[in-house]
Amino acid sequence: MAPIENSIDQLQLLHSISSLLTTSLNLKDTLSSIFSLLEDHIHLKKGVLILRDNYTDEYYIEIGYGLTEKDRRKSVFKVLEILTSKVLESNQVERISEVKSGICNVPMDSDEEMPGYGIVCLPIVLGEENIGTLSVFVPQTTVDVNDRLGLLSTVCLLIAQEIKLKKMLEIEKEALRRENVLLRDELKDKYNIHNMIGNSSSMHQVYESIIQVANSNATVLIRGESGTGKELVAHAIHYTSPRSTKPFIKINCGAIPESLIESELFGYEKGAFTDAHDTKVGKFELANGGTIFLDEIGELAPAVQVKLLRVLQEKEIERVGGLKPIKVNVRVVTATNRDLESELVSKRFREDLYYRLNVFPIFLPSLKDRKTDVLLLAEHFLDKFSRENEKQITRISSLAIDLLTSYQWPGNVRELENCIERAVLVCRTDTIQARDLPPTLQRSDTSLSVSEDLTYEEMVNNFERELIIDALKKTRGNKSKAADMLKTTQRIIGYKISTLQIDYNKYKGRV
Ligand SMILES: Nc1ncnc2c1ncn2[C@@H]1O[C@H](COP(=O)(O)OP(=O)(O)OP(=O)(O)O)[C@@H](O)[C@H]1O
Ligand SMILES: [Mg+2]
Repeated sequence: MAPIENSIDQLQLLHSISSLLTTSLNLKDTLSSIFSLLEDHIHLKKGVLILRDNYTDEYYIEIGYGLTEKDRRKSVFKVLEILTSKVLESNQVERISEVKSGICNVPMDSDEEMPGYGIVCLPIVLGEENIGTLSVFVPQTTVDVNDRLGLLSTVCLLIAQEIKLKKMLEIEKEALRRENVLLRDELKDKYNIHNMIGNSSSMHQVYESIIQVANSNATVLIRGESGTGKELVAHAIHYTSPRSTKPFIKINCGAIPESLIESELFGYEKGAFTDAHDTKVGKFELANGGTIFLDEIGELAPAVQVKLLRVLQEKEIERVGGLKPIKVNVRVVTATNRDLESELVSKRFREDLYYRLNVFPIFLPSLKDRKTDVLLLAEHFLDKFSRENEKQITRISSLAIDLLTSYQWPGNVRELENCIERAVLVCRTDTIQARDLPPTLQRSDTSLSVSEDLTYEEMVNNFERELIIDALKKTRGNKSKAADMLKTTQRIIGYKISTLQIDYNKYKGRV
């Protein structure tokens, strides 16, 4: 743009400055560009922006445009200091019409003098506060022309606004950072290995393995039936490891369609395929510095297995459509409830990948194989759900304990957790009773046991009801077959269904 001739030019300059401020995120770069615009328009020779530090309250040079290190040691710098402190005190503009020896009582060498150039020093004010100064070395004409000073004051206003915004963003960022630290600490607490319940020797082995492996970068393969706590172990490894302050990123390989899994894991470049309007960062990059948890690894499609193997070997990923590999520092933890060894035989799982993943296997025992932990877990969940539901349930009756410990728990800890949650919801006293447990846990022999707070008639009715429901289930709701099965008549079954209020339609067609 040409040097300023009229107010239109001034407006154009201000427009360029405010666009610079709104589009750039880096204040230092933007300020340098603003100085360079001022150089073009008002022939600025040097410029200095001084700001107050938010934390120390001291003033520092944010930008020294056109200033060399040598300049900073010269007398002209002394002049700047004097002008700045005057402006900070008075909040008024200070002008020096020519840079020559003797100004502000400062002697100068001849090579420091700038004939034809003066200095204008303006305050940068935010609300009532003086937060810095802008000093510019400009031709004498500019120093003396008032509308140029008006222009410079407006520039100061724009800069002040930008600093205000930046300050607000910084405060917000700091608040988010603190919240993040708090949440991370909470997670660290939640997934602390000591919060895992189980005193059985097999669980002690699991704890030992977690501690052994956590400090290393070894790849871990967590094995175990569904609901045994594999995800909990993956978290515990991460939060016990030196990576605990970095991200823990989970991806369920079984839940994402085969066509999307590669871009989920490795991301993609803009334009890699029709819908790739923007670049997307994959989970591996998100997990950089931390841990990636590949759950249900047995479900991973063969094409992606090859790519994962490459990542494990090279420690770098390639975004879909990307041209160059990206280095990543990620600890890989995987889990599966599949029998990977038979998947190897059927060639569904690559043998080379299997050996890469199986560096440190951890086996989680099924709940039925650690019956001693059932009660511990049940009490833990009772405490958790009573608190969550604001109920005062503190005990589990001996009959209910009997049912809990004799059940096989095919769904493992998750099933037990759900079972206690349900029991807490339906329980009407301070003790979980056998009747509060789901029907799957009720065995016919325990139905015969004496219940603590039922009358004789209620117990008999319950027993009869269970016998008939059981027969109806087995005969898919066929009353006549159910009667045969119970060696009674259809009339009696019909009568009982009605008096015991059994909805036999519910069992029609069900196995
Ligand atoms: N040792 C334990 N102590 C406390 N809670 C546990 C324990 N093991 C499992 N749980 C709880 O049981 C539930 C299931 O655990 P998790 O999701 O880790 O199992 P999983 O093995 O990953 O199951 P799936 O194979 O179905 O994904 C979770 O709510 C978890 O908090
Ligand atoms: Mg899981």
